[in-house]
Amino acid sequence: MAEKLALLGGEKVRKHPFPPHPIIGEEEKRAVMEVLESGKLSTFIAQSGELFLGGKKIRQFEKDFTDYYSIKYAVAFNSATAALHAAVVACGVKPGEEVIVPPYTFTSTATSVLMHNALPVFVDIKPDIFCLDPAKIEAAITPRTRAIIPVHLFGHPADMDEIMAIAHKHNIKIIEDCAQAPGAIYRGRLVGGIGDCGIFSFTETKNIMTGEGGMLITDDKEIAEIARMVRNHGEVILEGQSQRTYRSDILGWNYRMTEIEAALGIVQFSKMDKLNQSRIELANYLAAKLADIDGLTPPVVYPDVKHVYYVFAFKYDETRTGIPRDTFVKALVAEGVPAGAGYVKPLYLNPIYHENKPFIYNYYGKGISYDKGICPVTERLYEKELVLTAVCRPPATNDDMDDIVKAIIKVLDNKRELAKGIK
Ligand SMILES: Cc1ncc(COP(=O)(O)O)c(C=O)c1O
Repeated sequence: MAEKLALLGGEKVRKHPFPPHPIIGEEEKRAVMEVLESGKLSTFIAQSGELFLGGKKIRQFEKDFTDYYSIKYAVAFNSATAALHAAVVACGVKPGEEVIVPPYTFTSTATSVLMHNALPVFVDIKPDIFCLDPAKIEAAITPRTRAIIPVHLFGHPADMDEIMAIAHKHNIKIIEDCAQAPGAIYRGRLVGGIGDCGIFSFTETKNIMTGEGGMLITDDKEIAEIARMVRNHGEVILEGQSQRTYRSDILGWNYRMTEIEAALGIVQFSKMDKLNQSRIELANYLAAKLADIDGLTPPVVYPDVKHVYYVFAFKYDETRTGIPRDTFVKALVAEGVPAGAGYVKPLYLNPIYHENKPFIYNYYGKGISYDKGICPVTERLYEKELVLTAVCRPPATNDDMDDIVKAIIKVLDNKRELAKGIK
């Protein structure tokens, strides 16, 4: 007889928590203390032209990015959302114009477009890698389309060759959302450096983190310059002037990263490849074990890409397991394994695309649909098929992965009890 489920009063498989994330080591602590002791927590507001570009740590962090990505410009922000907003502005999107985005992503991939009074147009994703489906993009392009934001979801690169070909054909800018994919590689190229610009997130849960923070990278001088202005109240130090003029040329915000975050970022970035490698090894170990379980499909990884596993997402087929997906996840969580059902609701089903629409919709967007049914693959994944867990990351070990597998097997072995026990 199967062991009694924790959900039904039995003992948990996993009695102690998974190891905490992020890992904050001595180097991170020293780097932060050094900034505190210097007293220079942010030097953007200094009067000289050079310091308009940020303090020593900001510029070092940006340089580390330009070196690693072999790219000309990196602009640090206080979040990826800020970097995305600046990217939309810098790519020349105008109010009322359209930007194609996937609906299965964090909200700000799409709201960064709304922040600039432009309109997100949702295009469905691929059912295997969960990224924008290039085959569906062209049907959504209109004379108002100015940009596409492919998201390298969960750490797997989107189909960048196909997406870039569409962009070139229609003269559309590409903003890569790499918030979940720092260090991911697509056919020999690091994601973020393939489109017109790429953005990254360093919020606490990410592969590398600074508490909060973001980065934009680009080879395009104009994109970099506009992004820096958006970051800094729209102000600019004019050529030939060494002093701040308080002249605002464009609408900007305070999207500046502090020296403390940059100092943390420098240390974390130096560890990125190693941290990603641990994620890959843990994910490969777990995926191999799940591959033998009927009804589960471990993450698909295309040939010639490096997946960096921001989260470990797998497909679940309730017609094979005999347990509804949400019941399975509830039982798994009760066994002590943090897991989620479905990731996010397809973004277009949120109130901001319906009863709380921004005012710009009074003038534009009449032909854009946010109705249920527009992205069936995303809706199916959200409603029935996707399960994810974020604990597949360092400092977890294979023993931790074994507990995930044990818990999954235990839950699936209790099909009958679950059918009787809970709805
Ligand atoms: C795909 C994606 N884009 C953008 C963001 C926004 O990042 P931030 O929280 O740094 O603004 C996130 C964060 O979760 C994300 O996962």
